[in-house]
Amino acid sequence: MPLFDVYPRFDVTPVRAKGAYVYDEKGQEYLDFYGGHGVISIGHTHPHYVKLLEQQLQLIGFYSNSVNMPLQEELAKKLAIQSGYADHQLFLCNSGAEANENALKLASFHTGKKKVIAFRKSFHGRTAATLNVTDNANISAPINLDNYPVVWADLNNEKAVTQALRTKDVAAVIVEGIQGVGGLDMPTVAFLQFLSKSCKENDALLILDEIQSGYGRSGKFFAHQYAGIQPDLITMAKGMGNGFPIGGVLIAPQIKAKAGMLGTTFGGNHLACAAGIAVLDVLASEKLIDNVMQMHQLLIDALQHIPAVRAIKGKGLMLGVQFDFPVQEMRSKLLYEHHVFTGAASDPTLLRILPPLGIDAAHIQTFIHALKNVLT
Ligand SMILES: Cc1ncc(COP(=O)(O)O)c(C=O)c1O
Repeated sequence: MPLFDVYPRFDVTPVRAKGAYVYDEKGQEYLDFYGGHGVISIGHTHPHYVKLLEQQLQLIGFYSNSVNMPLQEELAKKLAIQSGYADHQLFLCNSGAEANENALKLASFHTGKKKVIAFRKSFHGRTAATLNVTDNANISAPINLDNYPVVWADLNNEKAVTQALRTKDVAAVIVEGIQGVGGLDMPTVAFLQFLSKSCKENDALLILDEIQSGYGRSGKFFAHQYAGIQPDLITMAKGMGNGFPIGGVLIAPQIKAKAGMLGTTFGGNHLACAAGIAVLDVLASEKLIDNVMQMHQLLIDALQHIPAVRAIKGKGLMLGVQFDFPVQEMRSKLLYEHHVFTGAASDPTLLRILPPLGIDAAHIQTFIHALKNVLT
């Protein structure tokens, strides 16, 4: 049976991985500075992660949300401590798009309204409601277009948001903590504070999409925490499970749950919770968020000395390196000649790097050496 051919793929076949490295079927080692779209947070096959998943699989891998789930409560408790969101409620699902889909639904349930403000260059997922607020017409089918009203604004344009909120029919503003696919542009601290205040004044909810920028990647648990705000809804996925499919929504206390309001068969199952708990354990025990900032500084110091680098965008270990030429050929050379995985963005001149949060100075040296080599 042929696979439905939607993915442009590199000709690499990973068969095992460890820490910041991936190995192909011939035993060739690759340095992973992309983590499969920013998913690998605590490192590939981390021993604690493998142990908790193996132990859980021996006990019970799955039961649906029709029974008590103490593992979900354990995950929520650890998440409350590490994220600082002890009063928010947790809804567990399976992917980033599903987290945003549920957050948009909750905003509409709660406010009784259906207009949403979204930002240019956004990416929020490929399901119906999320595509409607994703700034890429090429991936929307006719059925996805205009299924609820959206007002588009430029990131950090307060005037456009104020104007859109004036009609009082806005259910939510949705914004990424740091834009990922769109090219590492960031809402400023002042803009996030403005959004938080304006949403409150206009009975709209603020949704912070931290699917890529969350779980420590920015140097704080969530990137929006640099602005000191508390959004009504925060969505998470990617690093949350270090590769095990799990997503979640943090929901402010004023949003009340009703039986049947949201639901999923697989969301928050035993194995997913074991993965989520293992990630939080390792983030804390290895102080990975502190490491993010140290490694960020080393990377910035090294990148700034490379003359071809035009700008460095992003925060922590969610970085975009700007060149004045398309980076596709450079990425291929990094992969095939130097065995380093990197990522791309919608801006063809931006190299995206999303390494595991536990990388060390030697990994950075290898990456910088490879980059310099390719550039010469
Ligand atoms: C910011 C952001 N939101 C949502 C998504 C969608 O997540 P998923 O692919 O898990 O549905 C992504 C995926 O790249 C993302 O980067």
